[in-house]
Amino acid sequence: MATTLGADLGVDGADITVTCGATEALDVLALSLYGPGDEVLMLEPVFDVYIPQARLAGATPVTVPMRLDPVTGWSFDPGALGAAVTPRTRALLLNSPFNPTGTVFTPDELADIVALARQHDLWIISDEVYDELYFGERPVSVRTLAPERTFTVGSAGKRLEATGWRVGWIAAPPGLGAGLSGMRQLTSFCSPAPLQAAVAAALPIARQDGFYDTLRAGYAERLALLSGGLRDLGASVFEPRGTYFLTARHTHWTAGSLVEQAGVAVIPGEAFYVRHTAPQGLLRVAFCKSTEDIHLALERLERYVRSQS
Ligand SMILES: Cc1ncc(COP(=O)(O)O)c(C=O)c1O
Repeated sequence: MATTLGADLGVDGADITVTCGATEALDVLALSLYGPGDEVLMLEPVFDVYIPQARLAGATPVTVPMRLDPVTGWSFDPGALGAAVTPRTRALLLNSPFNPTGTVFTPDELADIVALARQHDLWIISDEVYDELYFGERPVSVRTLAPERTFTVGSAGKRLEATGWRVGWIAAPPGLGAGLSGMRQLTSFCSPAPLQAAVAAALPIARQDGFYDTLRAGYAERLALLSGGLRDLGASVFEPRGTYFLTARHTHWTAGSLVEQAGVAVIPGEAFYVRHTAPQGLLRVAFCKSTEDIHLALERLERYVRSQS
């Protein structure tokens, strides 16, 4: 890929391994960094591939629950994370901006996490696929705080809205990329070369011509439309600070009833929980949809709410 790749990805100085999307990047890291007897620490709710990938690598995923306050929304307790570390813990798997909560960890929160990783000599896998999709302060990349132990995962699918192209990457600490490339050769050998070339050509243009600003502005509009509409219908919305998902609750809604009776598909909170119990009635709603589709979904939900009263 192009020589400006490190700068285009915002990971100058890192060893870069190109993968078939972030999904393969996470798999390569799981297979490379831990194995039988090891534990991998992650927050819950948890993005769906983290648990099976850890298990396929033979390791044990250990989840620590986020808190959901009805007024202030999602937060996590660094003390609880620290308490979950054991002599078997090998790595911490983070995601900021966080799917599904939309959390963007603050510099202070990340500093606590990095201190914990240093104290226990843990690798940090930082899934930053939504790094350009934020509403407010730009997310801090974990590798700027701990370049010696952080593996950053990125996705052209999210950045360029080209999910089907299957181009992702790992930015590894200097000197550690060769081992990952070796493992990656065993998973799918390489991401299709023409698509790598297309992504390499598109990334500098995206960086220089304000593409990401336009992307964010478009998502911010759709977020405002969806969250305002859901609130008008009586839902509590936990405003995301990044990603294209929001979490919400409504006293009378379940994911099943919305699909079957309103004709609107959302994901039930339980889909993101393996060890702890999902907050009652939690729903994840996507706004990576056209404005027309969001209007249509809100109309259907309004009809559903009226039919209930
Ligand atoms: C948090 C997170 N990580 C990784 C991925 C996988 O990305 P890719 O499509 O590049 O494999 C996704 C896709 O939804 C995601 O939400």
